[in-house]
Amino acid sequence: MEDLDALRGELTASINGAADLDALEAVRVAALGRKGSVTGLMKSLGQLDPSERKAAGQAFNALKDEIAEAIEARKKTLSESGLDARLAEEQVDVTLPARPERSGSIHPISQTIDEVISIFGEMGFTVAEGPDIEEDWYNFTALNIPPDHPARQEHDTFYLNAEKGDSRMVLRTHTSPVQIRTMQAKKPPIRIIVPGRTYRCDHDATHSPMFHQVEALVVDESTHMGHLKGCLIEFCRTFFGVEDLPVRFRPSYFPFTEPSAEVDIGCSREGGSLKIGAGADWLEILGSGMVNPKVLENCGIDSTRYQGFAFGIGIERLAMLKYGIPDLRTFYDSDIRWLDHFGFKPLDVPSLVGRALA
Ligand code: DAH
Repeated sequence: MEDLDALRGELTASINGAADLDALEAVRVAALGRKGSVTGLMKSLGQLDPSERKAAGQAFNALKDEIAEAIEARKKTLSESGLDARLAEEQVDVTLPARPERSGSIHPISQTIDEVISIFGEMGFTVAEGPDIEEDWYNFTALNIPPDHPARQEHDTFYLNAEKGDSRMVLRTHTSPVQIRTMQAKKPPIRIIVPGRTYRCDHDATHSPMFHQVEALVVDESTHMGHLKGCLIEFCRTFFGVEDLPVRFRPSYFPFTEPSAEVDIGCSREGGSLKIGAGADWLEILGSGMVNPKVLENCGIDSTRYQGFAFGIGIERLAMLKYGIPDLRTFYDSDIRWLDHFGFKPLDVPSLVGRALA
C-alpha cells in the first residue's frame, strides 16, 4: 500500500507538471498505456495470494480511476489555457492606423445596410437590434410558428446544445424575432428597422450559413396595406435609383403576416445582362405583410385596436443586384482584390441629403 501511495504521488506530480497536451499524453501512456505502471499493477493481480486479491484489486482500480480523472482535469485546464494563449497571441489591434499603402474600404454589406438605414431613417424609422443567439420562442413560436409547424423545416436551423432543463437556443434564422422583442418592450406606435446577421445551415452559390437581413415593423391604430405598399415602392425606387421602377406585390404566405405578399421589381435580361427597371422580367426581392393578429396578441398588444405591417429583406441580394456582384460566396472570402473592386471609400457615407425620395 505504501508503494501505491508513492506511485500515486509520483503520477499526480507528473500530471500536474505536464506543460502541454503532448507531455500529458506521455504521462498517460506511462501510467495507463498497455505497458504503463498502473496497467502493470492490474496485471500483477494474478500473482497475488487469493486472500489479498480482492482488496488489492479494489485499491488498484481506485488508483486507476483517480489517475484517469486527474489526467482529464489537467487536459481541460491545458486546453483552456492553450486557447487563452492563442487568443492573446493572435490579438489584432484594430485601433492602429491603416498602412500608408492601403487606406481600407467599406465592405459592400456595410455600405448597403447604411444605405437602407438612411432611406428608412428619412421615413421616420429608428434602428433596433436583438441577439444573434435567440430563444426558440422568439425565433419561432411567438411569430406563430409553433413546434410542429411546417415552416420550421424551411429554416435550416443551427441549434445550440440545451442547458439542463431549458429548451435549445438557436442562431436566429431571420431578424423577425426582434419584432417580438420590440413589441414586448414598448407600446405602439412602433416604427423600426432591424439590420442584422442571420444564420441557416445552408451553403452554396446562392446561400451562405451567415447572411444579413433588414426587418421592418410598423404598428399603430390606423396602418393599412396601402401604407405597406407606399413605403416599399418608395424604398425600392430610392434604393435602386430608378424613378419609374415597376414594383409588384404577389400574394404569398408567412405565418407571422396575414395577408402576406412577396415583392418583385421589374428588370430586363435582354442581351444576357441584368438591368433593374422597366422590362419583360421580374425579380423577387423581399417578403412582407400585415402583422398577424396572433403575433400582436403573443406580445400583449390588443389586436382589436392595433394593427401593423412588417417586411424582411435580404441584404446580400440587394447588394448583388445594385452593385453587380455575381457570387454570394465572395462576400466572405476576405479577398483584398475583391474589396478593392467592390468596396467603398470610408467617407462615401450614404445620405439622402440634397436628394429627394423617388
Ligand atoms: N422572416 C422572413 C424570412 O426570413 C422574411 C419576412 C417575410 C419578414 C415577411 C417579414 C415579413 O417581416 O412580413 O424568410
